[in-house]
Amino acid sequence: MARVAVLASGQGTNLQALMDDPVVGPWVVLVVSDRTDAFALDRARTRNVKAVFLDPAAHADRAAYDQALREVLESERIDCVALAGFMRIVGPEVVDAFRGRILNVHPALLPSFAGAHAVADALAWGVKVTGVTVHLVDEEVDHGPIVAQEPVAVRTDDDWDTLESRIHGAEHRLLPAAVRALVEGRVKVEGRVVHVLGEPGVG
Ligand code: GAR
Repeated sequence: MARVAVLASGQGTNLQALMDDPVVGPWVVLVVSDRTDAFALDRARTRNVKAVFLDPAAHADRAAYDQALREVLESERIDCVALAGFMRIVGPEVVDAFRGRILNVHPALLPSFAGAHAVADALAWGVKVTGVTVHLVDEEVDHGPIVAQEPVAVRTDDDWDTLESRIHGAEHRLLPAAVRALVEGRVKVEGRVVHVLGEPGVG
């Protein structure tokens, strides 16, 4: 059985979607957060999934934090990592140790609206279509090869809450499907181009 870790800083609705997925759910064995008050940690504990708060303030610098994160992931023998609203940059030590095995979900159609405020940025820009991207994580922020994308139309009467809610709906479909494809070895990477075998919804 695969062992999946989910890193989350906030509400954890994507974590919930992963744990609720009949295939992926049993694989989720570890949740790590950089925030002690992240509701994601409560969601994990409710499911008896190991929940770890890794305190940024308790580590001297970013490199020390990354080393601690790597140690937690390796000690739990993690195969695949899902960044689900983890609002810290995952450093090169972790990226290197888990290369090709870390997915990030981003609330926009990358390369548009990278960064921490993608939904607000899309609204402010006035785009008619935004969406969701799931991509492999590399050393650059919101940059790695794209595994899956789904468009979400922006309505004239949308505000952050209404748009974010529809984006979440798409994320909750796309992220579990992408994690499943990665774990099952169906994700083939050629440079920037990713082929996902056997999954019409992903790839
Ligand atoms: C998600 O929409 C995710 O795409 C976003 O944070 C939200 C977390 O929601 N991530 C980023 O913006 C990363 N740049 P959740 O805690 O309910 O899963």
